[in-house]
Amino acid sequence: MTKIELTVDGGKVAEDVEPRMLLVQFLREKLGKTGTLIGCDTSNCGACTVHLNGHAVKSCNMLAVQADGAEVTTIEGLAATYDGGDLHPMQEAFHECHALQCGYCTPGMIMRSVDLLNENPDPTEEEIREGLEGNLCRCTGYHNIVRAVQTAAAAGKGAAQ
Ligand code: FES
Ligand code: FES
Repeated sequence: MTKIELTVDGGKVAEDVEPRMLLVQFLREKLGKTGTLIGCDTSNCGACTVHLNGHAVKSCNMLAVQADGAEVTTIEGLAATYDGGDLHPMQEAFHECHALQCGYCTPGMIMRSVDLLNENPDPTEEEIREGLEGNLCRCTGYHNIVRAVQTAAAAGKGAAQ
C-alpha cells in the first residue's frame, strides 16, 4: 500500500491505496464520490472526467498514486468552485438546454465543458464539438449539449473561478 495525500472537492484526503488502483476507483470506492461514473474500460467515453489541478482528465486513465499532492475536483464539488448557487453555471446551462436524457455522460460532459471554456471562452460550434470529442453520449445526438456550452459561453460564466 502507498499513502497518498491530495485535495478532493476542497477537502484534504490522506489514504493508503494499492499502487494499481485507478483514480476513478479511488474517488468512487474510497471516497464515495459516485457522481464520477465509469462508462467503459478503454479510456474512450469520458464519463469519468474530473479536474486535476484545474484541467479535465479521464480518471480511469490514471492511477490514484499519480494524483498524490494534486487538487481534484469532481462533479460533486464543481458548484463550490463558482460564486454562490447550488449549481455551477455549466450545470444550469445543461439543465436549461435539456442537454441530457439518461444523464450517464452528463458529469463528464460538464467537467470537460468547463475546462473547454477555461481554455477558450468563446468557442465556435466546431471548436465545441472538437473539444467534446473525447466524451461520448449515447442518447442526445449532442445538439443540446453543444447548445448548453454555447449558452454558458454567451453568459460569460462557464468557467470555474
Ligand atoms: Fe473513463 Fe470511459 S470510464 S473514459
Ligand atoms: Fe445518456 Fe448522454 S444523456 S449517455
